[in-house]
Amino acid sequence: MPTDNPVISEIFSEAKQVPPEYQLEPVHQREYLLNGKMVKWEGNTTEVFSPVFVHEAGELKRKLVGTIPNASPAEALEALQAAVSAYNNGQGEWPLMKVEDRIGCMQKFVYLMIQQRDQVIKLLMWEIAKTKADATKEFDRTVDYINATIDALKDLDRQSSRFEKSEGVMAQIRRSPLGVVLSMGPFNYPLNEIFTTLIPALIMGNTILFKLPKHGVLAHYPLLNAFREAFPPGTVNTLYGKGAEIISPLMESGKVDVLAFIGSSKVANSLKKLHPKLNRLRSILSLDAKNAAVVTRHADLDIAVTECILGALTFNGQRCTALKLIFVHRDIADVFVQRLSEAVDKLKAGLPWEPGVSITPLPEADKPGYLQVCLDDAKLHGASVMNKLGGQVNNSLVFPAVVYPVNNKMKLYHEEQFGPIVPVVPFDSIDEPVDYQINASHGMQVSIFSNDPAEVARLIDAYVNLVSRVNINSQSQRGPDVFPFTGRKDSAEGTLSIFDALRTFSIRTLVATKATEENKQLFNSVLKDHDSRFLSTDYIF
Ligand code: G3H
Repeated sequence: MPTDNPVISEIFSEAKQVPPEYQLEPVHQREYLLNGKMVKWEGNTTEVFSPVFVHEAGELKRKLVGTIPNASPAEALEALQAAVSAYNNGQGEWPLMKVEDRIGCMQKFVYLMIQQRDQVIKLLMWEIAKTKADATKEFDRTVDYINATIDALKDLDRQSSRFEKSEGVMAQIRRSPLGVVLSMGPFNYPLNEIFTTLIPALIMGNTILFKLPKHGVLAHYPLLNAFREAFPPGTVNTLYGKGAEIISPLMESGKVDVLAFIGSSKVANSLKKLHPKLNRLRSILSLDAKNAAVVTRHADLDIAVTECILGALTFNGQRCTALKLIFVHRDIADVFVQRLSEAVDKLKAGLPWEPGVSITPLPEADKPGYLQVCLDDAKLHGASVMNKLGGQVNNSLVFPAVVYPVNNKMKLYHEEQFGPIVPVVPFDSIDEPVDYQINASHGMQVSIFSNDPAEVARLIDAYVNLVSRVNINSQSQRGPDVFPFTGRKDSAEGTLSIFDALRTFSIRTLVATKATEENKQLFNSVLKDHDSRFLSTDYIF
């Protein structure tokens, strides 16, 4: 619903009113990283427009952030060939490199990455309208993730630096790379989500193809040189262009060993089916989710309201881990909805760099239209928008709507809205939210709000076999990154955490022999002369 409420209708400013430190000259990317070189791009380009509108010469229009290569399947196949050659069936420089030396390359990368911090954060603000605080957090969290990955690999390597003996057989057991990894991530965490697969895959000795996300492409541009300088040629290669066109030939080639994909289960299914050798392909997937909150009569409503708002509306609800459906006991539903609505209306809508802002424009051009369809459908089936500003729209900015009472006839009950709508479902029996989860096609997380130990215990036991993380009196979230991040059903395949990712992108491999005197002497000679990079008792400090 278009608005004349000044809180929303006046959020977009004159271009010249943007504070000087956030002014952006359009970035025209005419090169991409392939086989250790920044290759000049002379083909078609695609314009990147910001979700942020600016008034310029009497017109309100999306700010041009820059242009990017619009590459074709031919360039994608060239990138694949570079990654395949660099891996060279496990005989390439990178997969054969000692763990300690790979760690050295990664440390160089992170050092170079940090030099680009300000520019990446600025581009995240312009490209996806992430608030300055959240864009900064995304960058810093990614750096922390890389450093923690390095430490976790050191630990893993130290544990593998000794021999094991059983039934007269002695062996050294380590982890080896898998091959070529295709890494694809979503627009909501364009840097962090790709790096949480790309970095562990890389440090374990795999070679990488990484497809730039739908939005947030230019935020990667300042980092390409760091990849080029830190790693051997062909180790990291970039893929630009339309996913639907360039990814199919890569999968059909059968040369991708690991698909690391964060996005929709529909796309993941279609990509996996294209691979001709299903047993060769490993997949690590983070997919659909519609995490529920369950607010019982025994909840602390202050905590429930605060955490539900954080869970549902951080980055405008554009998080796979967001709370996308809130069940509340009917006895407290009215008071909960009233307090939730008042608190939502106090959220500050504005531009990413404004202090205290939390609601910002949406990067997907078709999202405001889709959200309106969801609201119309909910109204048709008996719900209302409960907060004064709910659903009011100014171009790409949609003020969050608290919708109540939601029921199972509505889109909002079933579809992952991935945007600023907070659907609230009243329930009478605790079996109702549990049944919702049983029948849902996904199973990532749940948030339970209650201070009754018996009730909490009962709900924990019901949910631990339906989702993969049960949050008590707190919002749903991925972090801390040392904790396992996964899901059931259509929500995920495999587990990511700093430690789990190292395992996911590698395979246990051992060198074994009968523990005879001759073999012991043979192994001792190999170890003493440091002849093998795998068979080694060197300890990384
Ligand atoms: O979009 C999915 C992200 O992994 C969510 O991460 O819970 O830390 O915001 P977060």
